Amino acid sequence: MTFAADENLKQGAEVITDWPLPPGVLLEFAPSGWVLLNREGTILLVNSEVERLFGYTRDELRGATVELLVPERLREVHVKHRDAFYANPTRRPMGLGMSLQARRKDGSEFLVEISLSPVEVKEGFFLLAAIRDVTERKRLEDERNRLAVELETEQERDRIGMDLHDGIMQELYAVGLTLELALEDIATSEEDAASGVERAIDQVHDVIRNIRSYIFDLRPRQFSGTLSSALLDLAREFQQNTQIDTESFVSDDLPEVAMDAAIAIYHITHEALSNIQKHAHAGQVSLGAVLIDDKLVVEVTDNGRGFDPSASRSQAHRGLRNISNRARSNGLFVDVHSTPGKGTRIRLELPLT
Ligand SMILES: Nc1ncnc2c1ncn2[C@@H]1O[C@H](COP(=O)(O)OP(=O)(O)O)[C@@H](O)[C@H]1O
Ligand SMILES: [Mg+2]
Repeated sequence: MTFAADENLKQGAEVITDWPLPPGVLLEFAPSGWVLLNREGTILLVNSEVERLFGYTRDELRGATVELLVPERLREVHVKHRDAFYANPTRRPMGLGMSLQARRKDGSEFLVEISLSPVEVKEGFFLLAAIRDVTERKRLEDERNRLAVELETEQERDRIGMDLHDGIMQELYAVGLTLELALEDIATSEEDAASGVERAIDQVHDVIRNIRSYIFDLRPRQFSGTLSSALLDLAREFQQNTQIDTESFVSDDLPEVAMDAAIAIYHITHEALSNIQKHAHAGQVSLGAVLIDDKLVVEVTDNGRGFDPSASRSQAHRGLRNISNRARSNGLFVDVHSTPGKGTRIRLELPLT
């Protein structure tokens, strides 16, 4: 919406004269709350939706600073953000992708999404804020995420059951057969029997390696302590299970990051290592987590056989898809770089400002 003539702003914004409803009326009955502020953050105008959302009458709001609508603990930082906006006023959604806290007259809080438009007219500079209550949408999103995680766990359980049955049980069955044959050989050829037993020993080592890999796969997806120590533990455990030379570099001054993002980083690192164990045939792996230009950067690199990340994959392969979904929903940027024959690098970036 533009205010073509500044006179109109004062007179209820009657911009289009032949239109039956003046824009001021449309604003009044708009489904989102609208607040007009001056440069000092003083509320000049609100519509009826704002009264409904916040429980104040418009007389109570007019003349108050907009921080009245913000929880007390966030007011100071809100003023700073407001000043920063005035310094560089552009039309923009506020808190894109995240919900902001708002405060009702009775002190209760709710989640809102706000977009801001600067309004420049002869009288000066104003700010028009559109406010929408997103409590219900957020609740539905949380519920959807919870169900997705539940489904993922269920599918994971199925897959593990099948892997144990088709993989490890088969392998143990083969060891049993080899030993039975060796037993029969004892009477006729000790040499054959001995080589049978040696084969069985090799098979048992393979089984142990595979069980280790399952255990690594199944390790708890939560961690206690700091993200740095959890990543170092993961690298150590990976090295022990796979015997692949694993180098880790995690700076000890990593900043605290939001729990959700930390868990996502941990999961993604785990999946990347799991993939290396299963697919890469790598001789060398490195895990790094460092701070670069206000970004936390986590990289998992292997020198294995690589693959084509752009190839389409069946539903059965969900690891990489989960990596992108999880990254996206936790504000992380992820880049999967792989060259067949050369190796793979998964890089995560979490902006910290
Ligand atoms: N580090 C890696 N090295 C080589 N190939 C990989 C690597 N990571 C993934 N891949 C390939 O990408 C495919 C998809 O991986 P993913 O989505 O995790 O599914 P899954 O691990 O269940 O096969 C794998 O099957 C494998 O072919
Ligand atoms: Mg995988």
